[in-house]
Amino acid sequence: MDGETAPEGYVVEKCGESEANEEEQTTIPENVDPLQIFRMPKRMTLPEKQKNSDETIEKNLRFWKETLENQRITKVLAPMVDQSELAFRMFTRKYGAQLTFTPMIHAHLFVNDGTYRRNSLALVKADRPLVVQFCANKVDTFLAACRLVEDVCDGVDLNLGCPQMVAKRGRYGSWLQDEVDLICEMVSAVRDYCRLPISCKIRVRDDRQQTVEYAKRLVDAGATMLTVHGRTRDMKGAETGLADWSRIRDVVEAVGSRVPVMANGNIQFPGDVERCMQATGAVAIMSAEGLLYNPLIFDDANAHVDTWKIAAEYLEYAKKFNAGTSAIRAHVFRICHHSLLEYEDLRMRVSLEHRIEDFENIVEELAKRAKSDAEAGKNREVEARTLFENIRNGILMNAIEVSKQPHWISKPYFRLKEVAKESIVGEGEKTFREKQKEKLAQTAKEMGVSMKQARKRERRQLSGARILEAKKIKFPPCARCGQPAGQGCANSKCKKCCRYQSKHELLDCKPHRYLFASQPPAVSAEN
Ligand SMILES: Cc1cc2nc3c(=O)[nH]c(=O)nc-3n(C[C@H](O)[C@H](O)[C@H](O)COP(=O)(O)O)c2cc1C
Ligand SMILES: [Zn+2]
Ligand SMILES: [Zn+2]
Repeated sequence: MDGETAPEGYVVEKCGESEANEEEQTTIPENVDPLQIFRMPKRMTLPEKQKNSDETIEKNLRFWKETLENQRITKVLAPMVDQSELAFRMFTRKYGAQLTFTPMIHAHLFVNDGTYRRNSLALVKADRPLVVQFCANKVDTFLAACRLVEDVCDGVDLNLGCPQMVAKRGRYGSWLQDEVDLICEMVSAVRDYCRLPISCKIRVRDDRQQTVEYAKRLVDAGATMLTVHGRTRDMKGAETGLADWSRIRDVVEAVGSRVPVMANGNIQFPGDVERCMQATGAVAIMSAEGLLYNPLIFDDANAHVDTWKIAAEYLEYAKKFNAGTSAIRAHVFRICHHSLLEYEDLRMRVSLEHRIEDFENIVEELAKRAKSDAEAGKNREVEARTLFENIRNGILMNAIEVSKQPHWISKPYFRLKEVAKESIVGEGEKTFREKQKEKLAQTAKEMGVSMKQARKRERRQLSGARILEAKKIKFPPCARCGQPAGQGCANSKCKKCCRYQSKHELLDCKPHRYLFASQPPAVSAEN
């Protein structure tokens, strides 16, 4: 340890070396209330690893195939950092999700940091079958993390899809796909020494043949299920584009007879599930963004509900299952996306508020306005419902046309080019700019000032709110201890936590001037 002290609360212990703590359970008791929340203990011990019998390996290999078949599972909630939290998992289950994934968890921190472990997972018995997803780049660490959750879920998954820069720096997610030998070693270790079936979530590669070879190697190594996201690593941010279902089909044809393949990407409307299964041959489909913007897309009967109704019900789940503020805020933003574009003041409030009651108040206010908008726009609503019904039945969808539909009806979000945004105005509706001008004229009249003065006044108010917002954004909390994080920190941590993580995972953080990746210390520290 180099005599370095760990940041407070950072429980440093190698698995298997800590004392057992009798007060904390490591398994969910049989007779517990199915909705009682369970968290991973801060202290855990791992017994010596034991090799699985051939029988266990065989059983695990069949597990997902049999489970998906027997329970007729076709609709799956994707792993999403900060967004497939317990509350959202339970909420989407109510509307049709049959299998859920936890957000990606850092295996290294999960194994070595009791506080992180405790905070990274909340579980209830009713949320099953459940897959816990990890990112990792070391065989032993990944295996230890998987063994720690043996008693609380149905399977473990290795994230091989994350395309972000933090993943590149940390050498995980899709950035590991160039080290297939290492990936296979990790997968085989879990197959051989963990009681849970191991699955992998991958992106398609640049080349078709390469994708198929990659998938085969993973299955050979012991993957018992694959999720294939039909976008390549470069398709992210503004370049996201559409997932290519035919690339998923390649994988299904290559390994689908050996393990179940789930298709991921572009599920936006009811009806897409069936279309995607047909196009890919996949046994189930997984959705992420589609469910964030409309958590009801899996429910044919309910699909296009008022945004505020969905948000209000999600908030009930958030309360019941103790969701964190950042998860709640992000969900409200997405569920009410189209309505909040209409109501800038409410949008601002969502970005500033913290308590669940505040979010409830915002949604209540939105409900009032949306109801009166809906009352005034009955015809538009009828037209929208006809359009959505046609899309469900298979007419070709036009993103701009869909985006033009009334804000209060839940619908998907499209990354449209800036130019296209101007044209997203319903027939006979005013553009945003026209509306702003009218509002300004109104203010000017009420205050008895000129338009110019009213505009100045508005700008002052807006910048006041922005400064307030900027202050909060400037120092977001450290991802593990809650102290203010360093500005631009590569690990989203405070200085102390960043140093600790950077040193132990050999990372760089330029803002904090830690260069453990590019200039590793001559004698590396233990552990
Ligand atoms: C907010 C957000 C968080 C995500 N977090 C994860 C994650 O933790 N692990 C993972 O494998 N994929 C993650 N993804 C990717 C999704 O699981 C999914 O593969 C991707 O969004 C494509 O599916 P979609 O077209 O249904 O959105 C995330 C996506 C979003 C939008
Ligand atoms: Zn910290
Ligand atoms: Zn840092």
